[in-house]
Amino acid sequence: MATVYLNGQFLPDGAALISPLDRGFTYGDGVYEVIRVVNGKPFLLAEHFGRLADSCAKARIGAYLTPLEEVPARLLRENGLSGDALVYIQVTRGTAPRSHVFPPPETRPTVFAMAWAFTPNPAWAQGMVTILEPDIRWSRCDIKVTSLIPNSLSAQRAKELGAHEGLFVRDGVVQEGTLSNVFAVFGGEVHTAPLSNYILPGITRAVVLDLCREHGIPCRETPIFATEITRADEVFLTSTPYDVAHVKSVEGHVLPAEHPVTDRIAALFREVVRRECP
Ligand code: PDD
Repeated sequence: MATVYLNGQFLPDGAALISPLDRGFTYGDGVYEVIRVVNGKPFLLAEHFGRLADSCAKARIGAYLTPLEEVPARLLRENGLSGDALVYIQVTRGTAPRSHVFPPPETRPTVFAMAWAFTPNPAWAQGMVTILEPDIRWSRCDIKVTSLIPNSLSAQRAKELGAHEGLFVRDGVVQEGTLSNVFAVFGGEVHTAPLSNYILPGITRAVVLDLCREHGIPCRETPIFATEITRADEVFLTSTPYDVAHVKSVEGHVLPAEHPVTDRIAALFREVVRRECP
């Protein structure tokens, strides 16, 4: 049985009990983070906690997060995870009688965390197969909320069509994937959707943009249109589980087999990981 964290306690997963009246259960009223662990060390922990604090603030969930920063290391230790892993942290608005308005102010948020060994899917290294999906999500995709039904529907449709990832298209613009940010290379210039309420500010995305700027790789935060992505020289996805993953095809259109810009960025990204998680 795995050891998980719930509201200040480390417990066997079977003993971690949450009320059915928890707002996370009745309303999907929570926010979360997924943190990559390499060689037993959480990668970019401060950045993930920074985004969790932002998500809590935007969702008006008053959680005190500072003591939680110790939780990933202890979960890794308790579960004997000294290699590659993922840590999941979820904060909900707490347990309260069902009502659309916020619970009484004394209601404590529910905080849950777990960790598990993670190996990237070897198929990803051969190139991601992607499909385009209508973006049926709400208009605050910048908050990392646990209400993921649209993402789940699109991820499942992608799977059923033999693809690895669905790319959300809103008003003709490719915004992001179901669990990743999207980049495309046109004539040597790297494009990705600008930050807005329609995309998650990906931690991996930010590292990639910094690397491009630092290493003189032309890059621009500009919309990628659904009509042009199939004609890109290269497309790649970034996310905590994917790192930098090149895309083999979009909606059945096969992209060029060579992807030198993606390869260079992926190599630079691996160097950052090696430096941070020796
Ligand atoms: N999701 N966009 C969406 C919609 C995401 O859900 C994610 C990550 C990203 C990439 O963000 P980052 O680089 O910070 O991981 C972009 C996580 C992995 C998940 O839901 O499991």
